[in-house]
Amino acid sequence: MSEHLDDAALSQLFHTARSRNQWRKEALPDSTWRQIYDLLKMGPTSVNTSPARFVFCTSEEAKARAAKHMSDTNAAKSVDAPAIVIIAQDLEFAKKIPELFPHNPDAQHWFSDEKLKQDTAFRNATLQGAYLMLAARALGLDCGPMSGFDNAALDADFFAGTQIRSNFLCAIGHGIDKSFDRLPRLKFEDACQIL
Ligand SMILES: Cc1cc2nc3c(=O)[nH]c(=O)nc-3n(C[C@H](O)[C@H](O)[C@H](O)COP(=O)(O)O)c2cc1C
Repeated sequence: MSEHLDDAALSQLFHTARSRNQWRKEALPDSTWRQIYDLLKMGPTSVNTSPARFVFCTSEEAKARAAKHMSDTNAAKSVDAPAIVIIAQDLEFAKKIPELFPHNPDAQHWFSDEKLKQDTAFRNATLQGAYLMLAARALGLDCGPMSGFDNAALDADFFAGTQIRSNFLCAIGHGIDKSFDRLPRLKFEDACQIL
């Protein structure tokens, strides 16, 4: 049976975790990105499709390449992070269903409808992006998620000739800024119903 996480763990994952804008300048080993993936990959996706693909831009060259497709403010505040991760979805995810859903490989044919394919890829890759952020936080790292970039231009640069499409970006490292107070969140009564 699972145990309730203690307050320190909940704080690290949720209460004190912030979207970061400034980063300690450091290089982190590739094992860090592998550890993050090995956690996030365990998060659930529909039909176990696992459509997200991740590009960990860690060299100065790769970070600059990603940054040139961002808004100026996003570019300026993320290039110092140890990694800028491109979270993307592979619209050809169904090809891997025989590997990922081996008891029913025919499930690869369930996604021939274009809208269902797009929706499944986007929904599950977005979830996997959220798992990435929680995995990074669980490992003591901070995140700076960003949607302020030119998806089409970034896709042409990084994913030409594929069916992989960018979803959002996330800087990862140790954040050092405390620039503004936490923004309000909706009250339970305004966001939830118990029926
Ligand atoms: C998918 C996503 C996209 C975001 N895009 C941007 C962005 O382009 N630029 C930016 O400065 N912040 C961006 N943010 C950060 C949000 O503004 C931030 O998470 C929100 O204000 C709450 O701040 P907090 O996480 O520190 O509580 C994004 C967050 C998410 C989850």
